[in-house]
Amino acid sequence: MWKFLSLFFLFSTPILAEEIGRIAAPEEIAAWDIDIRPDGLGLPEGSGTVAEGEGIFEVQCAACHGDFGEGVDRWPPLAGGFDTLDSERPLKTVGSFWPYLSTVWDYVNRAMPFGDAQSLNVDEVYALTAYIMYLNEIVDDEEFELSKANFLDLPLGNEANFYPDDRETTEYPFFTEACMTDCKSSVEITKHASGKDVTPE
Ligand code: HEC
Repeated sequence: MWKFLSLFFLFSTPILAEEIGRIAAPEEIAAWDIDIRPDGLGLPEGSGTVAEGEGIFEVQCAACHGDFGEGVDRWPPLAGGFDTLDSERPLKTVGSFWPYLSTVWDYVNRAMPFGDAQSLNVDEVYALTAYIMYLNEIVDDEEFELSKANFLDLPLGNEANFYPDDRETTEYPFFTEACMTDCKSSVEITKHASGKDVTPE
């Protein structure tokens, strides 16, 4: 008991703000700062072809995502689903749904292969991104090489359907001020659900 109390007093002595933590090392910041923006900002130098990506994909990705990105069992598919977004069962894939190629590069680089994240090198990520584009019929040449230089030449199919939230101008002006208190002078029951015959016996 006294031991715990003395520990408590030891740690409860005031600590000056500048004594907390330390300045992050440049290597630590570099390891965290890996996001890639839609305009390509953050992309490292490197390149990879569709054919190279296919080889890596077979070994590192196909067990879950299928040889052609069709998805094995309940692992997610990475290709197909074009023109299904407004159907009853939309199939959302990189090809049918995702907005930017940078998201693909960033996601693969950051999170895949599942269980061994961030084990791929830069060229492998370029090659895999190129192969996923091939699976989605965005490029059709196996020798196509993706690099920082041509990265912005490959818009994804659904890109145009992503736009900044515009409800402030398109929706809000059409709503009248909502009443929140004393909105009705008297309350009376006008109908019963039983009259509609929707309540189970
Ligand atoms: C052990 C199974 C497994 C392996 C191997 C694997 N993935 Fe995945 N992948 C997943 C799972 C699970 C998700 C979904 C994760 C989530 O939504 O949080 C996913 C998601 C993805 C997505 C996003 C799909 C979407 O539409 O949300 C991409 C792209 C992807 N993986 C690419 C790859 C690539 C490239 C490789 C090989 C380097 C790879 N994966 C290896 C299991 C795997």
